[in-house]
This record gives sequence, C-alpha cells and structure tokens, in this order.
Amino acid sequence: MSLEEYHCWCSEVMKEFAERLRGVVSKMLVMLSLGLGLEEGKLEKELGGMEDLLLQMKINYYPKCPQPDLALGVEAHTDVSSLSFILHNMVPGLQVYKDSKWVTAKCVPDSMIVHIGDTLEILSNGTYKSILHRGLVNKEKVRISWAVFCEPPKEKIVLKPLPELVTDKTPPKFPPRTFAQHLQYKLFKKTQEDFVSPK
Ligand SMILES: [Fe+2]
Repeated sequence: MSLEEYHCWCSEVMKEFAERLRGVVSKMLVMLSLGLGLEEGKLEKELGGMEDLLLQMKINYYPKCPQPDLALGVEAHTDVSSLSFILHNMVPGLQVYKDSKWVTAKCVPDSMIVHIGDTLEILSNGTYKSILHRGLVNKEKVRISWAVFCEPPKEKIVLKPLPELVTDKTPPKFPPRTFAQHLQYKLFKKTQEDFVSPK
C-alpha cells in the first residue's frame, strides 16, 4: 500500500468511525435526557444538535517510563466536553477519582470508555458529575489512546443549568457561559465569580 493509499484508507476509516460514533452520541444523550426527567431530544438540542455539536479527536501517546511512580502522563483534570469517548491499546493507565481514591479503569476488549464532561455537568446543574481523571505511564509498554470529545459550538450557545432542573431547593450551581468562556476559565483557572454573563 502506498502512502497515498494509506492516507486514503485512514480517512475512510475515520469517516465511518465518526458517523457511527455520532449515532452512539445521540443515543447516549437520549438516555441521559430521560435520566434527568427531560424530553428525549433535550440534551442533544441544547448542545447544538446534528448541525453544531462537534466531534474532536485527539491521539495520546504515552512512552514507556522506567519509573512510572515519578511521572504522570496527563495530570488530573476534568474534560470540558459534554461526553468523551476513549479507545486505547489495552495498556492500563487511565485512572478516575472515586470515593476519595484513584481507581484504574479496566481494559475490557472491544469496549470504549465514556466520560461525562463539564458541559453536561453544567446543563444538568450538577446531577451528572464531570469525572476527575488522569493518565499514568507504563513501565513496560507504550500506551496509546484515541479520545473523541463531543463539544458544543464555541459561541453560539450559552451553557447554563437547564431551567427545568432549577428550583428553590436546587438553585443554579453554575453561572451562564459560552463554551469559549468555559475554556478560558479552565485554561487560566479562573473562579466562577470571574464569569461575565454573556449578552
Ligand atoms: Fe481527559
């Protein structure tokens, strides 16, 4: 196979993967909407729908490390996305923070790992938690992961707790923001009070 043919094959595979994954995203958003007691299409619509919800792929390469205890592949963080899908090469390393401790995600063949990200935490007013996670390096094997992030448009939508989920007993936990503002907030570690309400 020539390099050109290889590129062509890669883009065909990626296209099909993206199309199939987009279907999975919609199905998951239906389940998550129903879980909040909302109409099934609510979260998909609030995130931009078929037109504006963006899938972004990032490939992570974690080289072997002789002293994994002294190094971190990716420091602890939550994802800014609504949902994140992770495929990996069956080398353990992803950890999630649960019950005050780090737990290593199991490597289950033919499966994908799915995270809830900040955007869904905001829309659900904190009912769905954006999971804190980190990536470790492995002593003997290279670890590779393919992460796909489902993100709302940067400026078009104002993210805030859905009115249906805000009551006297459950006041809004997050000030309104665009996705672009949220990215700035994460990048510069601003506090919630630093948000200026979008017009
Ligand atoms: Fe992440």
